[in-house]
Amino acid sequence: MSSLRLLLAGFGNVNRSLVKILLSQAALLRARHGVAFTVVGVADSRGAAVAPEGLPLEALLAAKAAGRGVDALPGVGRPGLDAIQLARELDYDLLMEATPVNLKTGQPGLDACLAALGRGRHAVLANKGPLALAFERLAALGDLDGRPGRPQLRFSACVGGAMPTVNVGRRDLAGARILRIEAILNGTSQGILRMMEQGVSYAEALAEMQRRGLAETDPSLDVEGWDAANKLTIIANAVLRRPTTVREIDVQGVTALTAGELQAAMARGEKIVLRCLAEWTGQDYTLSVRPTSLPLSHPLARMNGDEMGIVFETDITARQTLTTRETDPIPTASAMLRDALDIAAP
Ligand SMILES: NC(=O)c1ccc[n+]([C@@H]2O[C@H](COP(=O)([O-])OP(=O)(O)OC[C@H]3O[C@@H](n4cnc5c(N)ncnc54)[C@H](OP(=O)(O)O)[C@@H]3O)[C@@H](O)[C@H]2O)c1
Repeated sequence: MSSLRLLLAGFGNVNRSLVKILLSQAALLRARHGVAFTVVGVADSRGAAVAPEGLPLEALLAAKAAGRGVDALPGVGRPGLDAIQLARELDYDLLMEATPVNLKTGQPGLDACLAALGRGRHAVLANKGPLALAFERLAALGDLDGRPGRPQLRFSACVGGAMPTVNVGRRDLAGARILRIEAILNGTSQGILRMMEQGVSYAEALAEMQRRGLAETDPSLDVEGWDAANKLTIIANAVLRRPTTVREIDVQGVTALTAGELQAAMARGEKIVLRCLAEWTGQDYTLSVRPTSLPLSHPLARMNGDEMGIVFETDITARQTLTTRETDPIPTASAMLRDALDIAAP
């Protein structure tokens, strides 16, 4: 039985879902994978909780459900201790990074990840910000280029929730040249567009996506296209192996679209989606995120408001499509678990 100590940075929708999964799947993880995970530290925006022998997970969830910070937990709460300090000082094996996206500084996720990898600790990210801003810097500290003995850097939860986008692109399409990737990678804007087609107002649709815990902490990242652009940046670096930062991507969001335009598209047999596009020009990839009208026969036009999807076209595999249906953050947390198990595997 291997035992891995987790440090959770951020304790919002995603890392709370991860804790719920760790509780519900504990017996399966032991029996099938021979792994036991212990949460030894948690940080939220107010402070931290620390216990080398393992934190009381139910009590942590109850504290947040009651609107308290994790620092208020009796005996283990550490007011004023932040995620970066914890990543630098605590004894742990894996950092599970799920703080909000910050596209200006990348913080606190970026420094927490740099601290973890710099100390030889593995890092699993759901937060795209550090990767969208500093992919190469993080990759240089981790194992992505196959250097043995490096701490492992994993981020499959960053690119379409539970959809194994990065695994398929890096591992399963090995030996192929990707000619084109088209994807719907922002669940919030997809949900909003599909609800607006049915006559729901933009404001009501956004509120619904926030209620489900699927919108970004700052939802302008979703509707202005930046969340999708962050994901395309990660695909460009990790799958297309093209060094890219998010600022290079041509981005247009969905805020200017009207219900009338969406319904007119439907009337002519099309659907408008927020499409991420990477196209091989023969020498390089062009990268864009913008609302695009697609015929209903297109795989991305067939997806409903709860779905995200990606279509890969390569020189030797023709067309492959992945989709995922997600109505809450549990599938994203399951992708973090998938990464943690990958790291735990002997
Ligand atoms: N929600 C999804 O479906 C989804 C899917 C894929 C990826 N993600 C990514 O996962 C990350 C987390 O998303 P979420 O939905 O869990 O967000 P969330 O519900 O807003 O939670 C964010 C958490 O981070 C904490 N936090 C804020 N500033 C912090 C700081 N300076 N130091 C430490 N903790 C801090 C917050 O503290 P408080 O609790 O005190 O407010 C909260 O616990 C984001 O980067 C997002 O892009 C989310």
